[in-house]
Amino acid sequence: MTATFLALLTCIALSSQSEGVSFRQEAVVSVCPIASKEGAAILRRGGNAVDAAITTALVLAVTHPAAGNIGGGGFMLVDGPGREPEVIDYRETAPGAASLRMFQPGDGGRTAKASGVPGTVAGLAMSHRRHGSLPWRDLVEPAVRVARDGFVSYKPLVDSLNSVLASVSPNSAFQKAYGKPGGGKWVTGDTMVFADLANTLKAIAQEGEAGFYSGGVARAIVSEMQRSGGLISLEDLAGYRAIVREPIKIQYKQHEILALPPPSSGGACLALILGMADEEGLEKNPRDSVVALHLLAESMRRAFRERARHLGDPAFAPIPGFLFEREYARGLAKGINRAQATPSIDLAGDIPVVLETEHTTHFSVADAKGMVVSNTYTLEDSYGSRVVVAGAGFILNNEMQDFNWFPGKTDTKGRIGTSANLISPGKRMLSSQCPVIVRRDGKAVGVSGSPGGRTIPSTVAQVLINKLAYGMTIEDAVAHPRLHHGWFPDEIRFEKSADPRWADTVEALRRLGHKVTGRSQGDAHSLWREGGGWRAGIDRRIAGGASGQ
Ligand code: DON
Repeated sequence: MTATFLALLTCIALSSQSEGVSFRQEAVVSVCPIASKEGAAILRRGGNAVDAAITTALVLAVTHPAAGNIGGGGFMLVDGPGREPEVIDYRETAPGAASLRMFQPGDGGRTAKASGVPGTVAGLAMSHRRHGSLPWRDLVEPAVRVARDGFVSYKPLVDSLNSVLASVSPNSAFQKAYGKPGGGKWVTGDTMVFADLANTLKAIAQEGEAGFYSGGVARAIVSEMQRSGGLISLEDLAGYRAIVREPIKIQYKQHEILALPPPSSGGACLALILGMADEEGLEKNPRDSVVALHLLAESMRRAFRERARHLGDPAFAPIPGFLFEREYARGLAKGINRAQATPSIDLAGDIPVVLETEHTTHFSVADAKGMVVSNTYTLEDSYGSRVVVAGAGFILNNEMQDFNWFPGKTDTKGRIGTSANLISPGKRMLSSQCPVIVRRDGKAVGVSGSPGGRTIPSTVAQVLINKLAYGMTIEDAVAHPRLHHGWFPDEIRFEKSADPRWADTVEALRRLGHKVTGRSQGDAHSLWREGGGWRAGIDRRIAGGASGQ
């Protein structure tokens, strides 16, 4: 506890938006200093990057419940000397009882019905079987301890938890699990104890993934489904499998970027955005010039149109290979008008568009032997479905929102109705998650990724462009203001849209025909090789902390 508190004070003493901290050998960087510190302690005990990633992920499930999770899913990218890089896909799946038209217009997404079959525990267990070096129990134990003995709460957590507690029913399992004992609002510095979650984690420590997918925890999930109107069954849980996939490889500025294949659109969008930016000679323009921002937005607009058109779970929809080829990005770049925004509707082509109508977390780990892990996982919205499994203390995802809910209904607000990502039992919903590993001469030199829904590939593209095309330090690459264009809605989201210092730039973008809105984008905790060690780019947009030695 004292050590945890000290870690927190160290973090708070550090500064704002982003910063760099160097480590001689190995490091963990995540949104939460407590999780980074527990992950780094595993490295110090001789664990490798995957061991540390497992601990970091499970501690985040306690200390960053908005997105850290055991009731959600995600993707882990692993690389290291003497092994082929791989993706562990632990994306949620649609329950067996799911159906094409199970959602009606007006249905909210924060419901048990929107929960997919969770993948996190299976994914972490699979990463351990394939790459782990320390015993599984030792890797889960820190999360059990932090949940059982408590941890000192930090301001962003207190603020977000108080706000979500105000939105859920007073008698709900969510209140029982996450409300302040005795009532009232959490105050920064309160010790948070999550006893039911500690017991669930203990079952996972003792029985591995069987402690989650069968037995008491599985039965508690199914009872919760029956109470709350969800679809997940015991068979769905017993049948869930993580999948090992080959990463896609993107060549960019003498580096090779390892990224996700479908069912995430992250790798395809990243390949297209970087490919188009490169074809357009982006870095010949100052980073914050109107033309650079315009070219980025136009590249993103086109990448996200391709996403809508083609991408879904490859087990259910054929994914065209050309999306990953530079030639295709070159062709798309030719359509960019440097003097004017292209209305998104003009790119719709054969997609009929109807004219109407956070939260994830990423962490990066590197060990002293050169093994690296890039992990993004999520509950979908902040605190997911906001349904807590009664007695088991964890929050279920609402990842079913990532399917195309209404066949044929693609609209200008950003809803997509194309066929590759329609709901089907057992299918993985299309993701935008985009953890990456950057290699130079076959060796990992960078690790990055971010939350932010469809803005994720845009965020990661900008971190990489800032670092590799503009030569920024990793902390500046992470801190730099970000933008996003997602095809629809037809607007640039720019972090500085309301900042008077950027008013001229925003005005110039508007003159080119862009609508400009904006808010904070992403949380890209990254690592970059520095000498023989690693430099952490800690993103301060939420909280953030790096730990290592
Ligand atoms: O996998 C996806 O694309 C989304 N469910 C991620 C959600 C997300 O990043 C929300 N966070 N800020």
